[in-house]
Amino acid sequence: MAEAVTVIATSRLVLRPLSADDFDAVFAIMSDPVVVSCSGYPKPDKARSRDALMVGRASWQRWGVGSVGVWRSDALIGEIELIYNTLDEFQIGWVLHPDHWGLGYMREACHALLFHAFNHARLALMTAYTFDHNRRSVRLLQALGFGAVCSRMLDGAASTRYELRADELI
Ligand SMILES: CC(C)(COP(=O)(O)OP(=O)(O)OC[C@H]1O[C@@H](n2cnc3c(N)ncnc32)[C@H](O)[C@@H]1OP(=O)(O)O)[C@@H](O)C(=O)NCCC(=O)NCCS
Repeated sequence: MAEAVTVIATSRLVLRPLSADDFDAVFAIMSDPVVVSCSGYPKPDKARSRDALMVGRASWQRWGVGSVGVWRSDALIGEIELIYNTLDEFQIGWVLHPDHWGLGYMREACHALLFHAFNHARLALMTAYTFDHNRRSVRLLQALGFGAVCSRMLDGAASTRYELRADELI
């Protein structure tokens, strides 16, 4: 039987699970020097990123929700990684090509995916981690309703854990 692929449409964007054919485009965004410097994480490793794409895609079969690519007018402009973490927690992360920052695209995409995660896949708890210096990511977390839970030092910089439950999504 053919694999069912969920497509989520918002007013400006289309979200759908990534295929292996999308990998090069996503990896180019993840490796963009502006993206790497803003996120605070090391330049991504190709093999691990490819594995993560397949895990995020397989998650749709198992949990009814997982990672997606973000398309705007047929162009792949970003990715939301949504994967099972542990103890019934799911973890979300995101990347958007810098040409599309400051337009509300990632907030729009995340809201739609999180709405699906809570209301259709019935997930209970979403977590996220970001460096405190990553102000764009912190603003996005706050705009979606995530609350800061605890912080620790990671590679010499403060990193905070955020949590979101269904009734907190804005
Ligand atoms: C984190 C990241 C996705 C945020 O991108 P972004 O474009 O700033 O986020 P949003 O899509 O939510 O857009 C919000 C901005 O659009 C503005 N905006 C413009 N039009 C808007 C609209 N119609 N609706 C909502 N916001 C709108 C908002 O005012 C806001 O601007 P501000 O940040 O100057 O206040 C992006 O910076 C990124 O990819 N960073 C690198 C990867 C990374 O750090 N990932 C996280 C690792 S933990």
